[in-house]
Amino acid sequence: MAHKRAAFITFEGLDGCGKSTQVERLAACFVEQGFSVLVTREPGGTANGERIRQLLLDTRTARLAPLTELALMFAARVQHVEELIRPALDAGQMVICDRFTDSSEAYQGGGRRLGKMLVLELHRLLCGDLQPDLTILMDSDITASVGRARRRNQARTANQDSDENRFELENRAFFARVQAAYLEIAKREPQRVFLVDARGTADQTHTKILEVVSSKLGLNIFSKKAQNRC
Ligand SMILES: Nc1ncnc2c1ncn2[C@@H]1O[C@H](COP(=O)(O)OP(=O)(O)OP(=O)(O)O)[C@@H](O)[C@H]1O
Ligand SMILES: [Mg+2]
Repeated sequence: MAHKRAAFITFEGLDGCGKSTQVERLAACFVEQGFSVLVTREPGGTANGERIRQLLLDTRTARLAPLTELALMFAARVQHVEELIRPALDAGQMVICDRFTDSSEAYQGGGRRLGKMLVLELHRLLCGDLQPDLTILMDSDITASVGRARRRNQARTANQDSDENRFELENRAFFARVQAAYLEIAKREPQRVFLVDARGTADQTHTKILEVVSSKLGLNIFSKKAQNRC
Protein backbone atom coordinates (compact mmCIF):
# COMPACT_ATOMS: atom_id res chain seq x y z
CA MET A 1 0.00 0.00 0.00
CA ALA A 2 1.27 3.43 -0.93
CA HIS A 3 1.34 5.01 2.52
CA LYS A 4 3.11 2.07 4.18
CA ARG A 5 6.57 3.42 3.40
CA ALA A 6 9.52 3.23 5.71
CA ALA A 7 10.38 6.02 8.09
CA PHE A 8 13.03 6.34 10.75
CA ILE A 9 11.72 7.97 13.92
CA THR A 10 13.82 8.62 17.03
CA PHE A 11 12.87 9.67 20.54
CA GLU A 12 15.12 11.87 22.64
CA GLY A 13 15.06 13.59 25.99
CA LEU A 14 16.31 13.46 29.55
CA ASP A 15 16.36 10.30 31.64
CA GLY A 16 12.86 9.47 32.82
CA CYS A 17 11.01 11.96 30.58
CA GLY A 18 8.87 9.11 29.24
CA LYS A 19 10.58 8.10 25.97
CA SER A 20 10.19 4.33 26.32
CA THR A 21 6.55 4.75 27.38
CA GLN A 22 5.81 6.85 24.29
CA VAL A 23 7.82 4.66 21.92
CA GLU A 24 5.65 1.69 22.87
CA ARG A 25 2.43 3.66 22.44
CA LEU A 26 3.38 5.05 19.05
CA ALA A 27 4.52 1.62 17.86
CA ALA A 28 1.17 0.14 18.92
CA CYS A 29 -0.60 2.77 16.81
CA PHE A 30 1.49 1.98 13.76
CA VAL A 31 0.91 -1.75 14.18
CA GLU A 32 -2.81 -1.13 14.48
CA GLN A 33 -2.65 0.80 11.21
CA GLY A 34 -1.01 -2.15 9.48
CA PHE A 35 2.60 -0.99 9.42
CA SER A 36 5.50 -3.33 9.92
CA VAL A 37 7.42 -1.75 12.81
CA LEU A 38 10.81 -2.30 14.35
CA VAL A 39 11.10 -0.91 17.88
CA THR A 40 14.63 -0.66 19.12
CA ARG A 41 16.83 1.29 21.51
CA GLU A 42 20.25 2.75 22.14
CA PRO A 43 22.70 2.00 23.49
CA GLY A 44 21.88 -1.58 22.51
CA GLY A 45 19.41 -2.99 20.03
CA THR A 46 21.63 -5.87 18.92
CA ALA A 47 23.04 -8.74 21.00
CA ASN A 48 26.52 -7.19 20.98
CA GLY A 49 25.12 -3.71 21.51
CA GLU A 50 23.18 -4.84 24.59
CA ARG A 51 26.43 -6.15 26.10
CA ILE A 52 28.00 -2.74 25.52
CA ARG A 53 24.86 -1.16 27.05
CA GLN A 54 25.40 -3.14 30.23
CA LEU A 55 28.94 -1.85 30.52
CA LEU A 56 27.86 1.75 29.83
CA LEU A 57 24.87 1.98 32.15
CA ASP A 58 25.85 -0.25 35.06
CA THR A 59 26.81 1.67 38.21
CA ARG A 60 29.68 -0.77 38.78
CA THR A 61 31.41 0.64 35.68
CA ALA A 62 33.83 3.03 37.35
CA ARG A 63 36.39 5.46 35.95
CA LEU A 64 35.19 5.37 32.36
CA ALA A 65 36.93 8.19 30.46
CA PRO A 66 34.45 10.41 28.56
CA LEU A 67 36.11 9.49 25.24
CA THR A 68 35.82 5.79 26.07
CA GLU A 69 32.15 6.34 26.85
CA LEU A 70 31.65 8.07 23.49
CA ALA A 71 33.58 5.39 21.60
CA LEU A 72 31.52 2.63 23.21
CA MET A 73 28.29 4.45 22.36
CA PHE A 74 29.39 4.58 18.74
CA ALA A 75 30.63 0.98 18.77
CA ALA A 76 27.13 -0.12 19.75
CA ARG A 77 25.57 2.31 17.26
CA VAL A 78 27.58 1.12 14.25
CA GLN A 79 26.52 -2.45 14.97
CA HIS A 80 22.93 -1.28 15.41
CA VAL A 81 22.83 0.67 12.15
CA GLU A 82 24.48 -2.10 10.14
CA GLU A 83 22.73 -5.10 11.64
CA LEU A 84 19.26 -3.75 12.34
CA ILE A 85 18.32 -0.22 11.33
CA ARG A 86 19.47 -0.03 7.70
CA PRO A 87 18.22 -3.52 6.79
CA ALA A 88 14.82 -2.74 8.35
CA LEU A 89 14.51 0.56 6.47
CA ASP A 90 15.64 -1.11 3.25
CA ALA A 91 12.94 -3.73 3.78
CA GLY A 92 10.33 -0.97 4.09
CA GLN A 93 9.82 -1.25 7.84
CA MET A 94 9.00 1.65 10.10
CA VAL A 95 11.85 2.00 12.62
CA ILE A 96 11.26 3.64 15.99
CA CYS A 97 14.42 4.04 18.02
CA ASP A 98 14.61 5.01 21.69
CA ARG A 99 17.63 7.40 21.62
CA PHE A 100 20.12 7.82 18.76
CA THR A 101 23.08 10.08 17.94
CA ASP A 102 21.40 13.19 19.40
CA SER A 103 21.82 11.48 22.77
CA SER A 104 25.58 11.30 22.20
CA GLU A 105 25.63 14.95 21.25
CA ALA A 106 23.63 15.85 24.37
CA TYR A 107 25.24 13.52 26.95
CA GLN A 108 28.83 13.07 25.78
CA GLY A 109 29.07 16.29 23.75
CA GLY A 110 27.20 18.49 26.27
CA GLY A 111 27.07 16.60 29.57
CA ARG A 112 30.67 15.31 29.39
CA ARG A 113 31.82 18.45 27.58
CA LEU A 114 33.37 16.65 24.60
CA GLY A 115 31.70 19.10 22.21
CA LYS A 116 29.34 18.51 19.34
CA MET A 117 31.90 18.50 16.49
CA LEU A 118 33.51 15.23 17.54
CA VAL A 119 30.12 13.54 17.84
CA LEU A 120 28.87 14.81 14.49
CA GLU A 121 32.12 13.82 12.78
CA LEU A 122 32.02 10.31 14.25
CA HIS A 123 28.42 9.99 13.12
CA ARG A 124 29.41 10.99 9.60
CA LEU A 125 32.42 8.66 9.48
CA LEU A 126 30.94 5.63 11.24
CA CYS A 127 27.22 5.73 10.56
CA GLY A 128 27.20 7.14 7.01
CA ASP A 129 25.49 10.20 8.49
CA LEU A 130 22.19 8.32 8.67
CA GLN A 131 19.55 10.86 9.76
CA PRO A 132 16.14 10.13 11.23
CA ASP A 133 13.16 11.39 9.21
CA LEU A 134 11.71 12.67 12.43
CA THR A 135 13.00 13.12 15.98
CA ILE A 136 10.63 13.66 18.88
CA LEU A 137 12.50 15.62 21.55
CA MET A 138 10.55 15.30 24.78
CA ASP A 139 10.79 18.52 26.72
CA SER A 140 10.71 17.98 30.48
CA ASP A 141 11.90 19.35 33.80
CA ILE A 142 15.15 17.94 35.10
CA THR A 143 14.06 17.29 38.68
CA ALA A 144 10.82 15.56 37.75
CA SER A 145 12.16 13.34 34.99
CA VAL A 146 15.47 12.32 36.53
CA GLY A 147 13.66 11.67 39.82
CA ARG A 148 11.26 9.35 37.99
CA ALA A 149 14.11 7.50 36.30
CA ARG A 150 15.88 7.05 39.62
CA ARG A 151 12.76 5.63 41.30
CA ARG A 152 12.11 3.30 38.37
CA ASN A 153 15.72 2.08 38.37
CA GLN A 154 15.78 1.55 42.12
CA ALA A 155 12.69 -0.65 41.83
CA ARG A 156 14.30 -2.65 39.02
CA THR A 157 17.57 -3.00 40.92
CA ALA A 158 15.68 -4.18 44.00
CA ASN A 159 14.09 -6.87 41.82
CA GLN A 160 17.58 -7.61 40.45
CA ASP A 161 16.30 -7.02 36.90
CA SER A 162 19.15 -4.67 36.03
CA ASP A 163 21.31 -1.88 37.38
CA GLU A 164 21.17 0.95 34.84
CA ASN A 165 21.76 3.87 37.17
CA ARG A 166 25.16 5.14 36.06
CA PHE A 167 23.91 8.29 34.28
CA GLU A 168 21.20 8.98 36.84
CA LEU A 169 23.95 9.40 39.44
CA GLU A 170 25.09 12.58 37.68
CA ASN A 171 24.32 15.97 39.20
CA ARG A 172 21.94 18.69 38.15
CA ALA A 173 24.63 20.69 36.33
CA PHE A 174 25.33 17.68 34.13
CA PHE A 175 21.66 17.35 33.16
CA ALA A 176 21.40 21.08 32.58
CA ARG A 177 24.22 20.79 30.02
CA VAL A 178 22.46 17.78 28.44
CA GLN A 179 19.22 19.73 28.19
CA ALA A 180 20.93 22.80 26.71
CA ALA A 181 22.64 20.64 24.08
CA TYR A 182 19.31 19.04 23.16
CA LEU A 183 17.67 22.43 22.73
CA GLU A 184 20.55 23.55 20.54
CA ILE A 185 19.98 20.55 18.25
CA ALA A 186 16.29 21.39 17.98
CA LYS A 187 17.16 24.97 17.06
CA ARG A 188 19.73 23.87 14.49
CA GLU A 189 17.53 21.25 12.81
CA PRO A 190 13.91 22.40 12.96
CA GLN A 191 12.98 20.29 9.91
CA ARG A 192 13.86 17.07 11.71
CA VAL A 193 13.57 17.72 15.44
CA PHE A 194 10.21 18.49 17.06
CA LEU A 195 9.99 19.58 20.66
CA VAL A 196 7.02 18.01 22.44
CA ASP A 197 5.99 19.09 25.93
CA ALA A 198 6.28 15.95 28.07
CA ARG A 199 5.23 17.47 31.40
CA GLY A 200 1.63 16.29 31.22
CA THR A 201 0.17 12.82 31.54
CA ALA A 202 1.33 10.00 29.26
CA ASP A 203 -2.01 10.28 27.41
CA GLN A 204 -1.60 13.99 26.77
CA THR A 205 1.95 13.52 25.50
CA HIS A 206 0.86 10.63 23.27
CA THR A 207 -1.78 12.81 21.61
CA LYS A 208 0.78 15.55 20.93
CA ILE A 209 3.19 13.03 19.46
CA LEU A 210 0.52 11.61 17.14
CA GLU A 211 -0.18 15.10 15.84
CA VAL A 212 3.49 15.72 15.08
CA VAL A 213 3.99 12.29 13.48
CA SER A 214 0.88 12.63 11.31
CA SER A 215 1.72 16.08 10.00
CA LYS A 216 5.46 15.55 9.58
CA LEU A 217 5.18 12.19 7.82
CA GLY A 218 2.11 13.19 5.87
CA LEU A 219 0.02 10.40 7.37
CA ASN A 220 -3.66 11.09 7.87
CA ILE A 221 -4.16 7.74 9.55
CA PHE A 222 -4.07 9.09 13.09
CA SER A 223 -7.61 10.41 13.11
CA LYS A 224 -9.19 11.42 16.42
CA LYS A 225 -11.14 8.17 16.30
CA ALA A 226 -8.03 6.11 15.71
CA GLN A 227 -6.21 8.00 18.49
CA ASN A 228 -8.84 6.88 20.96
CA ARG A 229 -8.17 3.29 20.11
CA CYS A 230 -4.39 3.31 20.41
N1 LIG B 1 3.73 11.41 31.52
C1 LIG B 1 4.10 10.70 32.59
N2 LIG B 1 3.76 11.11 33.82
C2 LIG B 1 4.17 10.42 34.91
N3 LIG B 1 4.94 9.30 34.87
C3 LIG B 1 5.32 8.86 33.67
C4 LIG B 1 4.94 9.53 32.45
N4 LIG B 1 5.47 8.86 31.41
C5 LIG B 1 6.16 7.82 31.93
N5 LIG B 1 6.09 7.81 33.29
C6 LIG B 1 6.74 6.90 34.23
O1 LIG B 1 8.01 7.48 34.51
C7 LIG B 1 9.05 6.49 34.51
C8 LIG B 1 10.04 6.81 33.39
O2 LIG B 1 9.39 6.64 32.13
P1 LIG B 1 10.16 5.98 30.90
O3 LIG B 1 10.87 4.75 31.34
O4 LIG B 1 9.19 5.87 29.76
O5 LIG B 1 11.22 7.16 30.61
P2 LIG B 1 12.48 7.17 29.67
O6 LIG B 1 12.55 8.52 29.08
O7 LIG B 1 12.44 6.00 28.74
O8 LIG B 1 13.68 6.97 30.71
P3 LIG B 1 15.21 6.54 30.40
O9 LIG B 1 15.85 7.66 29.67
O10 LIG B 1 15.82 6.38 31.76
O11 LIG B 1 15.15 5.25 29.62
C9 LIG B 1 8.34 5.14 34.33
O12 LIG B 1 8.15 4.58 35.61
C10 LIG B 1 7.03 5.52 33.66
O13 LIG B 1 6.01 4.59 33.96
MG1 LIG C 1 13.76 4.42 28.48
